[in-house]
Amino acid sequence: MNNIDVLKQDIIGTVHAANDMDSLEQVRVSALGKKGQITGMMQSLGKMDPDQRREMGQALNKLKNEIAGEIDNRVQILKSEEMKKKLAADKIDVTLPIRPELKGSIHPLSHTFEELFTIFTDMGFDIAEGPDIEDEFYNFTALNFPPEHPARQMHDTFYLPDDNLKEGDASKKLLRTHTSTVQVHVMQNQEPPIRIIIPGRTYRSDYDATHTPMFHQLEGLVIDKKTNLSHLKGCLTDFLSSYFEIDDLPVRFRPHYFPFTEPSAEVDIGCTKDKNNFKIGAGDNWMEILGCGMIHPNVLKNCGIDPDVYQGFAFGMGVERIAMLKYGIPDLRTFFETDLRWLRHYGFRSLEQPNSVMK
Ligand code: DAH
Repeated sequence: MNNIDVLKQDIIGTVHAANDMDSLEQVRVSALGKKGQITGMMQSLGKMDPDQRREMGQALNKLKNEIAGEIDNRVQILKSEEMKKKLAADKIDVTLPIRPELKGSIHPLSHTFEELFTIFTDMGFDIAEGPDIEDEFYNFTALNFPPEHPARQMHDTFYLPDDNLKEGDASKKLLRTHTSTVQVHVMQNQEPPIRIIIPGRTYRSDYDATHTPMFHQLEGLVIDKKTNLSHLKGCLTDFLSSYFEIDDLPVRFRPHYFPFTEPSAEVDIGCTKDKNNFKIGAGDNWMEILGCGMIHPNVLKNCGIDPDVYQGFAFGMGVERIAMLKYGIPDLRTFFETDLRWLRHYGFRSLEQPNSVMK
């Protein structure tokens, strides 16, 4: 074995033995740093004759790249071990009994879901659910998002790591960006008539007072032979006045674009909004509240339903958003901070009934 091989084995041994980032950095500095072993040997090249210099120079360069590669691999391994340790340390045992001194309350999100379930099941909707991990087909393609369409990018998608697949491949796995994915599963598996709501978690890479990387949506899907736009308008107008508990709530359907519906609309509700005052109900302002439309014939086709026989409507809304509006909660991030003071303030008592205001 020549000197370079001995040195290589020696350094690789220390790379593998480094058990944290600090010691790995020390190994890197002592091998590749300004005063490192390999750097030192490179500096001595000048004293060699040309043939020897060329040969040694190439060997040292190769060694340098190999060591850098080994260090990169070790960084990845240490990072993933660190993450595993952190996840294990963060684990919460949800089977532990409740501590009696902590008076529990119902989270405003759970309360809002109960309200939504009550209103929609009163209208004859069933509840359907689907997986949080989906692929491009269910999240985009089946829902008529053209390949390369900017709407795909606008979803700030979290993709699952898989070196063999790239964004745009139908089987590329991702965290669903909307609950519309479950429309596809339901249509694939159920003959119309269909009348369902779909509650669930959704994920987008975004974080500020009105966005969190995980949030909740409620989706609706109605398909039958004669379902039409006036059914959509009636259903959503009734839902909104019921949810906000305002009989004559002004509701406006404003044309919009979604790939999976045609025509599509955003729905606004009336409100009063000025510097010191925000109130839902008749007023001189509008507030956007949900998206909806008549299901695009391509979506029906993609999911195995004949668009010449069936038609329908769909809608989707952010559940935290409608909870914030109804209960005056200013910042979405606080929903997930498990701050007891916040929970005591915004939480509901366990026997408080959700409103069922279908009159
Ligand atoms: N999926 C849409 C989103 O996340 C929301 C939506 C809009 C759902 C219109 C629908 C719909 O079903 O018809 O932004």
